[in-house]
Amino acid sequence: MKKLGWSLLIFVFPIITLCTCSSGNGASNDEVDRKVDSLISLMTLDEKIGQLTLYANDLNPTGPQKTTFCENEISNGRVGGVFNVLGTDNVYRLQKQAVTNTRLRIPLLFGFDVIHGFRTIFPIPFAEACTWDPELIKKSATLAAKEATAWGLNWTFNPMVDIARDPRWGRVSEGSGEDIFLASLIAKAKVQGYQGDDLSAPYTMAACVKHFAAYGAPIGGRDYNTVDISERTLSEVYLPPYKAAVDAGVLSVMSSFNELDGMPCTANKKLLSQLLKDEWGFKGFVVSDWTSVKELTAHGIAKDEAHAAELALKAGLDMDMQSGIFSENLKKLVSNNLVDEQQIDNAVKRILRVKYLLGLFDNPYLYIDKKRQEEITASQEIMDLALLEAKKSIVLLKNENYSNSKLLPLKKNLRKIALIGPLASNRINLLGSWHGHADTSIVKTILESLSEKLPNTKIEYTQGASFTGTDKSGFNKAIQTVQKSEIVICVIGENNALSGEAASRSNIDIPGVQLDLLKELIKTGKPIVTIVMAGRPLILDWLEENLPAIIFTGQLGTRSGDAISAVLTGEYNPSGKLAMSFPRNVGQVPIFYNHKNTGRPFDAKDRYTSKYIDVSNEPLYPFGYGLSYTTFNYSDLVLDKQTISSTDTLKITFTLKNTGNFDGEETCQLYIRDMVASVTRPVKELKAFKKVYLKKGEQVIISFTLTANDLKFFNEDMIYQYEPGEFAVFVGGNSRDLIEEKFELL
Ligand code: BGC
Repeated sequence: MKKLGWSLLIFVFPIITLCTCSSGNGASNDEVDRKVDSLISLMTLDEKIGQLTLYANDLNPTGPQKTTFCENEISNGRVGGVFNVLGTDNVYRLQKQAVTNTRLRIPLLFGFDVIHGFRTIFPIPFAEACTWDPELIKKSATLAAKEATAWGLNWTFNPMVDIARDPRWGRVSEGSGEDIFLASLIAKAKVQGYQGDDLSAPYTMAACVKHFAAYGAPIGGRDYNTVDISERTLSEVYLPPYKAAVDAGVLSVMSSFNELDGMPCTANKKLLSQLLKDEWGFKGFVVSDWTSVKELTAHGIAKDEAHAAELALKAGLDMDMQSGIFSENLKKLVSNNLVDEQQIDNAVKRILRVKYLLGLFDNPYLYIDKKRQEEITASQEIMDLALLEAKKSIVLLKNENYSNSKLLPLKKNLRKIALIGPLASNRINLLGSWHGHADTSIVKTILESLSEKLPNTKIEYTQGASFTGTDKSGFNKAIQTVQKSEIVICVIGENNALSGEAASRSNIDIPGVQLDLLKELIKTGKPIVTIVMAGRPLILDWLEENLPAIIFTGQLGTRSGDAISAVLTGEYNPSGKLAMSFPRNVGQVPIFYNHKNTGRPFDAKDRYTSKYIDVSNEPLYPFGYGLSYTTFNYSDLVLDKQTISSTDTLKITFTLKNTGNFDGEETCQLYIRDMVASVTRPVKELKAFKKVYLKKGEQVIISFTLTANDLKFFNEDMIYQYEPGEFAVFVGGNSRDLIEEKFELL
């Protein structure tokens, strides 16, 4: 570039940049790289370090508030992005400071945890996963992005794709459950949903896959705790969903709080540089989790904050969230030759690239548009999709006969219903722990929705018990209400604070005295429908033994009331399938369907086999489980070949029949097992699924295909390959109740 005087440069350069770079997907990678390199060549070291610094707005903390976010820092060019800024006026004010007060006028990123919606809230991710519907989940991410971007935001800290096998961990609510295949499809769907086809459009935003890596496996299920898993488990179970997000083009990755094999992920070179950037070819940037750079000192690998900055940057971390440690230390580290400026340039390049792709250099105010905000926020389109997704997330766990017919759906001619429980007439706790900037005024309670749907039925509501504590003073009133009614609907479970970040529980029973309340209500002899709403699998063994009808819902968001009422009344036939196994007691945890066989697999007649002496090995409800008001029968499983070569396609067909009295949707699941391999393999692995809607009495032939690629695994040398031999194929409506055939790979 031609030499210009500084003052002229300050004035002219951004204009040149803004005008000539057609950013977003219109620009080729080379063109973006060229623009970024030319901008970096103009930057001072301080300005570069500024780009690597991310602060939270003081007003809306989502973690310990260690660094005071100071607006002057923006004007001084010492900030690359801000998060948790609410309201377009605030976004505008801060962006204006960045693009008018700083020398190079580099726009800011505005981040937020848009986890399952922003103003209109969709079901929590764990519930969304129970839809087994990646297309629908993609749409919900698209609409969440549409709403959030209209509020000035351009970067979401989502999807969280941490596989979770331990329901004590509070953050199972934010992920897609225990299965690798399902979680990987959802990871891809969400990235595509948020980022869309045109990142520079005003209604798409950069996604951030988190928490890299294996944050979902803390010892004892305790949040932030050490993770200690084998390389094989890491590669086979935990890494694939992050990889799926990277393959889908995710623009940022968040490093996790935990360590892996003795190395905290925020300073983990193997993970951030060798695997993510070199091997997987990730082109976006890596941001730390909240103060996780600073926490390298507590981990005991950094002697002070400067050392922490050095370790994190050298490992491949590009942006420091909230520690302020890059900002305070990198310059000195460069002058002391402890950090190479080229390394800083590499990080800056990755961040600026994303800013270009978002269209921020063309228009830093692209995402600020009050008119669009008014039109889009809680629009009919978003509210409708939130309802559809909420309905599809609902899992029917049990529905037994009560005086000769199933208790659910509710009979049409009911005169009196008792509605009991702390979630029956509650708004905020229907939204989950990360409910964005939810508009609670548009949330309808279950009481309100059910009353609308059943205008001729008297619905009497009593809370009965609260979420936590030991207070039973509401029991009597609840019992009296129940005694006057024909049927009881109890809506119990967890409130927002009982799951999510920093909400691990050692006891995953239904909290407080809610179960005691049920035990009292059952004594009245009235039929009870129990709706359990929670951010994680809970222990439901007593309910399963004693109650005729049980529904599980995660927190379903803004349209919870309407979705649950639609299922209760039969307007919607439930179709959700569990994305995690539900244990019988907490001692079974961790429990997951794709476990190994062991050398002494369970045998009831042989004491010296792998089992508990006080509880079965099986979960109460297996992965993939969920009933419908109708019933489905699987039969005639046929494989088109008994043997396949590595280039063949195996066609698997079976008949699915709707054998009940309702039209309904089934999620047909296909699992495989490698019977003998050079290393041990899981007893089942999900490889495909299909959602099928059948009218009552209807039957269809369904087909799946498998190729040798679907049979790959890491061998003893950690090479990803398939091996010849015998395989079992299973098909069914959950991971337990399956029909089976065998084939051989030559
Ligand atoms: C969480 C992240 C979140 C970040 C910003 C952290 O405490 O672990 O998931 O994105 O805060 O809110």
